[in-house]
Amino acid sequence: MGEAQQQRLPVHVGIVMDGNGRWAKKRLLPRVIGHQAGMKALERVIDAAKELGIRYLSVYAFSTENWRRPSSEVQGLMGLFRYYLKGKMEQMHRRNARVRFAGRMDAFPQDILKITGEAEQRTRGNDGIDVIFCTNYGGRQEILDAVSKLIASGQDGPVTEERLRGFMYVPDVPDPDLLIRTGGELRMSNFWLWEGAYSEYYFTDVLWPDFERSELERALASYAGRERRYGAA
Ligand code: IPE
Ligand code: IPE
Ligand code: MG
Repeated sequence: MGEAQQQRLPVHVGIVMDGNGRWAKKRLLPRVIGHQAGMKALERVIDAAKELGIRYLSVYAFSTENWRRPSSEVQGLMGLFRYYLKGKMEQMHRRNARVRFAGRMDAFPQDILKITGEAEQRTRGNDGIDVIFCTNYGGRQEILDAVSKLIASGQDGPVTEERLRGFMYVPDVPDPDLLIRTGGELRMSNFWLWEGAYSEYYFTDVLWPDFERSELERALASYAGRERRYGAA
């Protein structure tokens, strides 16, 4: 990466990891095998992001709408989630990654909550990269949850952006600078609705299990060439 590009590196990159099902279908394999291949891609991308100097990486792993899928696929995903969390958290810790979760976590079974809670605790002091797993995440739901918490807090006074932000799932994480979606669809599917107001978008047809470091670098190069104005002249 050139020096100029290094200077224009996004602080927070978010990824909609889409295309696992189609990747499997092309190979006449069950969808869950596509999700398994997607987990491998995620490991590669976490390593690459850390090496490239990305400070926050958020990944859309399961949306509030993904419960609409057949229960066999949802169960397969929960199984992979357990396997991944148990097997990889120690590795993430050794790599100085702080693991966090954003979403309506209370929908998950108790054993998963135990592992996610432990992972957050164990990696709390790490400062190499924050990896935010957006699980049972929905942007609209996050805003509703924040409004509910604000009301429940009993504080009065005007509702400002800053106050509402304080009730979001990961309020200390800066808004995503760059949002990447793999798999060819040109939509965000309820990802970071509030936080993504001024994010730069990058779409690629590459299916998530095929996503390599070089693809990430391509997205970063595209980002580096953009001018962000935030409504100013
Ligand atoms: C994304 O891949 C992973 C999850 C939503 C969990 P998909 O499963 O949506 O893959 P496609 O879009 O059907 O190819
Ligand atoms: C978005 O992908 C959610 C995740 C990648 C976790 P979907 O495959 O669920 O989105 P739609 O259905 O194509 O909008
Ligand atoms: Mg999809």
